[in-house]
Amino acid sequence: MSDIIAVANQKGGVGKTTTTVNLAASLAALKKRVLLIDLDPQGNATMGSGLQKNQLVYSVADVLLQDAPIEAAILPSEGGFAVLGANRELAGIELSLVDKPKREFILKDALARVLSQYDYVLIDCAPSLNLLTINALCAAHDVLIPMQCEYYALEGLADLSDTLERIRQTLNPQLAICGVLRTMFDARNTLTNDVSNELETHFGDKLLETTIPRNIRLAEAPAHGMPALFFEKTSRGALAYLNLAAELIREQKKRKGKSA
Ligand SMILES: Nc1ncnc2c1ncn2[C@@H]1O[C@H](COP(=O)(O)OP(=O)(O)O)[C@@H](O)[C@H]1O
Ligand SMILES: [Mg+2]
Repeated sequence: MSDIIAVANQKGGVGKTTTTVNLAASLAALKKRVLLIDLDPQGNATMGSGLQKNQLVYSVADVLLQDAPIEAAILPSEGGFAVLGANRELAGIELSLVDKPKREFILKDALARVLSQYDYVLIDCAPSLNLLTINALCAAHDVLIPMQCEYYALEGLADLSDTLERIRQTLNPQLAICGVLRTMFDARNTLTNDVSNELETHFGDKLLETTIPRNIRLAEAPAHGMPALFFEKTSRGALAYLNLAAELIREQKKRKGKSA
């Protein structure tokens, strides 16, 4: 069965897009069939996967508006994973979605048509809790939460936990946190370690073992339209995301074992 993971955090700049693109490439490198869905009108995950966001014939906006079948909008990327891309058109569609029946489940319903083709679907969310993000959280089995270990990271925690709890109680009871990921991690920094300890207290074993270091290659790769694994495969950033992919696969196996 495929695992649908929403990469979400209502804070901007915490590494959601970097994580989505590099995790997609790493899972693909480990022979998993992966679909990346860009749900941010900035289209950064689309560009970072090597697709030109302004040259998409159909984008995720067309799929959500039900103007195009999802199969027609999915493109292959050189990173070895498939992409359902986004661009600025996505910013304007929320008002049109509000009037649709089952408006929170449009993405989930569209995805159902292609789900059997993928082991993992990764959804890059925008830094807000709009109807698009709610569509991601309703389609998903799991949420992956990237967190930058800085003082303000903790401020958003309560909001995020409330949101997830609300979605669980109303729209998607099975939604689980598959992990909290420490990004731009610097073990030598005292504040990083303090915040990291707080995260451990708050999330317990949901805090992933793998940490993503601050690594310039991760910041440079998008300008070249490729995941770090293809830009410089031995960089610390690329290796960290390979470790993350392996950890998520291990955790998923454990959970399956428990439920079997
Ligand atoms: N581990 C990292 N090391 C160095 N730079 C990073 C790292 N993760 C993200 N960045 C950079 O930080 C900025 C914000 O990251 P991004 O993934 O776009 O965050 P979000 O999608 O949450 O807004 C981008 O310029 C990105 O290249
Ligand atoms: Mg982003």
